[in-house]
Amino acid sequence: MNMLPSDSSISRRTFLKSSSTATAAATAAWLVAGAGVRSVVGADSNEKVEVGFMGLNSRGMDLLKEFLASQRVLVSWLCDVDQRAIDKAGAVVKAAQGLAFKTTPDVRRMLEDRRLQAVVIAAPDHWHVPAGLMALQAGKHLYVEKPLSHNPREGEWLVEATRKTRLVVQVGLQRRSVPWVIEAIGRIHAGELGPVHFARAWYAADRTGIGFGQLAPVPAWLDYSLWQGPAPDKPFRDNLVHYNWHWFWHWGTGELANNGVHFLDLVRWGMNLDCPQRVTSTGGRYFFDDDQETPDTQVVTFDFGGRTVVWEHRSCQPTPSEGEATGAVFYGRKATLTMGPSGYRVVDLSGKELAKGSGGTPSAPHVANFLDCIVNPGKSPASSAEDGHKSTLLCHLGNIAQRSGEILQVNPATRQLRTPSTASRYWSREYRRGWEPKV
Ligand SMILES: NC(=O)c1ccc[n+]([C@@H]2O[C@H](COP(=O)([O-])OP(=O)(O)OC[C@H]3O[C@@H](n4cnc5c(N)ncnc54)[C@H](O)[C@@H]3O)[C@@H](O)[C@H]2O)c1
Repeated sequence: MNMLPSDSSISRRTFLKSSSTATAAATAAWLVAGAGVRSVVGADSNEKVEVGFMGLNSRGMDLLKEFLASQRVLVSWLCDVDQRAIDKAGAVVKAAQGLAFKTTPDVRRMLEDRRLQAVVIAAPDHWHVPAGLMALQAGKHLYVEKPLSHNPREGEWLVEATRKTRLVVQVGLQRRSVPWVIEAIGRIHAGELGPVHFARAWYAADRTGIGFGQLAPVPAWLDYSLWQGPAPDKPFRDNLVHYNWHWFWHWGTGELANNGVHFLDLVRWGMNLDCPQRVTSTGGRYFFDDDQETPDTQVVTFDFGGRTVVWEHRSCQPTPSEGEATGAVFYGRKATLTMGPSGYRVVDLSGKELAKGSGGTPSAPHVANFLDCIVNPGKSPASSAEDGHKSTLLCHLGNIAQRSGEILQVNPATRQLRTPSTASRYWSREYRRGWEPKV
């Protein structure tokens, strides 16, 4: 895949040259023992892994600290289009490792560095797969934040590229690495709840409105052209950067893929589900009159044939469900298991507690698992590209049902819509001219 800059300072010729050099280097690396950079790093698992970060505001900063705390990485690149984020992150890296590192607003520059072994992407959703594909093409292992993709087609591309390159891809669904979550899922798989035909997951919060954005000059600290990257150009407005992009379909994926993907991932794992056969959604932007396009209230029903899953979010109505602001509940014939953000509980049908578990921080073991996979070629990531795609696809299907107003009929074997309809138009997106991913 090549992504050609349409409006950057890198000339087309320079980019093609560096891109093909990088591709050749990456291809050669993949041929070494069939495991790419893994074989190099795997030779000495005490060696530090060279990591670069793309997106360093909120989640990116958390991950940066988590990677540094592992003591197993050398942070060699910081990439952000917000100079203030680079400055803040730079101070953190300097204090922690006291070594020189490079900075850039342009992810392509970072990926040209042949010493770089892994990339962490915590930029907005519209960047995850376009930059993730570039990273894999350049031979870098990838930690990419959830949701895996901005739309279903992108998820399919990333799964395919992961298979081809055999590099490590860890999706930021970090609960998959938490010991008490693994224990809880193990109980479901061991049959402790009896047959489970129904699960419900939810998120409740007290978000406010985002107002009506005004056309405004791009702030001096921001490279808005690179912030947009692969997304078709839209004029800068003052209620978009940072974070609020989540609520515009052009860049974001709404609450369902923002928070829903975490617990839907665990429901899918707990119930051994792959892809639903029918999806319906209802909801809307009910609470505020503003620019937000994605629903603040949404209920999605997934019919997996003999098993049903319901998602519910109330972004502007914070009353907890089952005592938790976000979580999932699995209803078994013999017992019920409820999970929140920091623990789980199993009760029998009379309400008697049978088991519980909690503790730990969610991201540290996930980061450790990613690094373990890089140095141990035989190890699989806790949240693979394929699992990340399947769970993110649930969210996309819910959003497509919502936006099209259709009851989606899906072929679970192919994970495709059964009949082309208005819903099909949401399967992929248009790209900004010159930034089309080519897989
Ligand atoms: N796993 C989790 O628990 C978790 C938690 C929070 C956020 N996230 C995910 O992490 C991602 C980032 O979330 P956030 O809340 O930090 O968003 P944010 O908008 O606050 O920050 C995004 C950062 O990416 C930077 N950025 C944008 N385009 C860039 C580019 N081309 N190159 C380099 N940097 C670029 C922005 O300048 C900003 O600093 C989202 O996809 C979100 O869903 C995951």
